[in-house]
Amino acid sequence: MAAAVLDHDGKTLRSNIVHSQAELHSKYGGVVPELASRDHVRIVSQVIKHALESANTELSEIDAIAVTAGPGLVGSLLCGVEAAKGLALATKKPLIGIHHLEGHIAATFLEEKTPQGPFVSLIVSGGHTSLIYVPALGEKYTLLGATRDDAAGEAFDKTAKLLGLGYPGGVKIDQLSQSGDRKRFRFPQAMPGKDNLEFSFSGLKTAAARVLKEHESELDDQGIRDFCASFQNAIVENLIRKAFRACVKMNTKELAFVGGVAANSRLRERAMERSRREKYNLYLPSKKNCTDNAAMIARAGFQRFKQDDFVDLTLSCRSHWPLAQKVSD
Ligand code: KG4
Ligand code: ZN
Repeated sequence: MAAAVLDHDGKTLRSNIVHSQAELHSKYGGVVPELASRDHVRIVSQVIKHALESANTELSEIDAIAVTAGPGLVGSLLCGVEAAKGLALATKKPLIGIHHLEGHIAATFLEEKTPQGPFVSLIVSGGHTSLIYVPALGEKYTLLGATRDDAAGEAFDKTAKLLGLGYPGGVKIDQLSQSGDRKRFRFPQAMPGKDNLEFSFSGLKTAAARVLKEHESELDDQGIRDFCASFQNAIVENLIRKAFRACVKMNTKELAFVGGVAANSRLRERAMERSRREKYNLYLPSKKNCTDNAAMIARAGFQRFKQDDFVDLTLSCRSHWPLAQKVSD
């Protein structure tokens, strides 16, 4: 659960509060929907109050209320949407429904350097791996490719669960990889076709289980680090290859990586290396703004506010909600 207050310039964050549920879900190796929504209900008012206090402002001074309306776990979405409706009703301020993935894209615009023209955004999170063409924030987006099965973050989390590392696994694998040998174990490349912009990570997850079993006896502390580094490298190389390929296809040298997995150190390092070499403009939100947060929703809300794109109090949340149409549709 998170809440933020964004200033009129659309850049200055007056506050940005995130109440993490990582500990709550850690022992289960993934998010437990029932626990998530109960915790949201318990904490929502406190988080909003905290965000207003940290921003040193009053509810009456807020211009509009933006809330994530989907896609995601309905119980958690409902809690946020109903709270936002309550605030909009009480303050008579406009209400804005935000798509979670548009929020991730909007995180790019909280940084100093922002895309000036059309750009490609790779959204990599626990639930999504999608390549999106963005003509401008708030305009009609085009889906260039997405995962056919698991999301990249899901592959990190499920493999971390196999290793007993807890949740969110991506962070743990990232940390252990820092002192691991990424060349020690080999993993297959999914969807390798030259023009392919689709992803698939379920095969990699199965390969990880197989490698773990085959090399069980070698997996001492260093072995686990080497395994993590090799596994992480396989995901990162796949993401990098396809993101840059999408830019070539769309004839742009503006590229953004967003979503929780964009906080990955190796992904950031490889994206920076290649951008420097091939003269791309790379946009990487700060790590804090890659993983789920309210600042990104506020920034997307700011855009919609400028477009007078408001919703009324009948707003309901959506567990499934495509952000963009496929390029060939
Ligand atoms: O965007 P996000 O916070 O929530 C969703 O919308 O899903 O992404 C969460 C995902 C989790 O799968 C988590 O393991 C992954 O992002 N993640 C990372 C890192 N930090 C978070 N994966 C790899 N390396 C990281 N440093
Ligand atoms: Zn997210």
